[in-house]
Amino acid sequence: MSPIPRQPAPLTATAAGPFTGRVRVAGDKSMSHRALMLGALAIGETRIDGLTESDDILATVSAMRAFGALVTRPAPGAWRVRGLGVGGFLEPEDIIDFGNAGTGVRLAMGLVGSQAIAATFTGDAMLRGRSFGRFLDPLRRMGVQVIARSNDRLPMTIKGPDVTLPLEYRMPVASAQVKSAVLLAGLNTPGVTTIIEPVATRDHTERMLASFGAAIEIDRNADGERVVRLEGRRDLKAQAVTVPGDPSLAAYLVVAALLRDGSDLTIEAVLLNPMRTGLIETLIEMGGDIAVSNRRALGGEEVGDIRVRSSRLRGIVVPPERAPSMIDEYPLLAIAAAFAEGTTRMDGLGELRLKASDRIAMVAAGLAANGVAVEEGPESLAVTGGATSIGGGRVATGHDPRVAMSFLVLGMAGHVGVTIDDFGPVQTSFPEFQSLMSGLGAHFEKAEPPAA
Ligand code: S3P
Repeated sequence: MSPIPRQPAPLTATAAGPFTGRVRVAGDKSMSHRALMLGALAIGETRIDGLTESDDILATVSAMRAFGALVTRPAPGAWRVRGLGVGGFLEPEDIIDFGNAGTGVRLAMGLVGSQAIAATFTGDAMLRGRSFGRFLDPLRRMGVQVIARSNDRLPMTIKGPDVTLPLEYRMPVASAQVKSAVLLAGLNTPGVTTIIEPVATRDHTERMLASFGAAIEIDRNADGERVVRLEGRRDLKAQAVTVPGDPSLAAYLVVAALLRDGSDLTIEAVLLNPMRTGLIETLIEMGGDIAVSNRRALGGEEVGDIRVRSSRLRGIVVPPERAPSMIDEYPLLAIAAAFAEGTTRMDGLGELRLKASDRIAMVAAGLAANGVAVEEGPESLAVTGGATSIGGGRVATGHDPRVAMSFLVLGMAGHVGVTIDDFGPVQTSFPEFQSLMSGLGAHFEKAEPPAA
């Protein structure tokens, strides 16, 4: 950690576009974390292409090295991981700092939980402020010891028992991170670890485990719930993984192109896992001209090219059951809704208050500051579009990169520029965002910090 606190870097985005041409986005972040982690447990050398190289993912690289895996980068985006075998992690010499990488640290807790080693984790101020209780609850039931700050906050030490107990865990919340932490702990647990998901969430962990040769089965029970069974203590075999484009990053381009007149943009080779495409589905329902072509298999997942043309959108009611398939995209959907005719209602958003920031509150305040009519409920947002002057406001982003990027898109699409209070977290989480957008003609300007 840097001893000198970083100064906030305010940034203004002004009207830009049309957005045209063909582009690619960086590799999917969820898959990048998982590819490194499974590579570190597999026997042999895993080759990863298209790995996204943000600070979040580099934190996972450092963590896997700290556990003893040999991780190298022969070329940009191309990585090699020589794994240690399931149960083969070494005890790290020092504290592992995940910075702002919430997914990385949560999944790593699962990995360590079933190995008889102790590891101490920390993160940046944002991550240290979060409670990890709901991740630790199932791990504790598997026999994992935890010494954490009050309210289960970082820094914390996780120590796996000699033998972890297999767990049947009915997910109390729809969270792929919680599910994945339990499954990763299940890898070195004798017997069968079972997850019951009343509401399905992104399944990259299951897919990647299957491709690495894990004994994993997926079913539905009589109540229609998704059941994942993993038999532990089986070897994983090193794989070649190609990481497709991140749909959650492509989303900013999709919305920017929809909102700017004259746009016709194609984003190539984007991950189309059905648990990640909720935003695209929603935007099409709102009248967005979006077409997917060239569907093909890549890295055990489906990918395709997304073509977007500028469109007049109309407000809709977004079904709450769609939340898991677009959980990271609601701030951006709220921006699209600001330009739609009528009101867009989003329900079932309770989880959004627990992300990198309270995204319901941040989005509501940011929209209001930019002349957009918005109603905030405990678990909902209703945005009414079509105001005559959108933009001109200064937005507090709560150090949340997805809130920051969404409001920059508002600035690109609006009538007057929008200033966000700090671009720093975007640079660390999605370093390619600014160059990608600038390459398409977006205008950014450094803004003055507010007077003290
Ligand atoms: C992620 C799952 C989601 C998402 C996060 C990445 C993952 O969190 O918000 O950005 O890679 O598993 P939850 O499933 O915990 O809601």
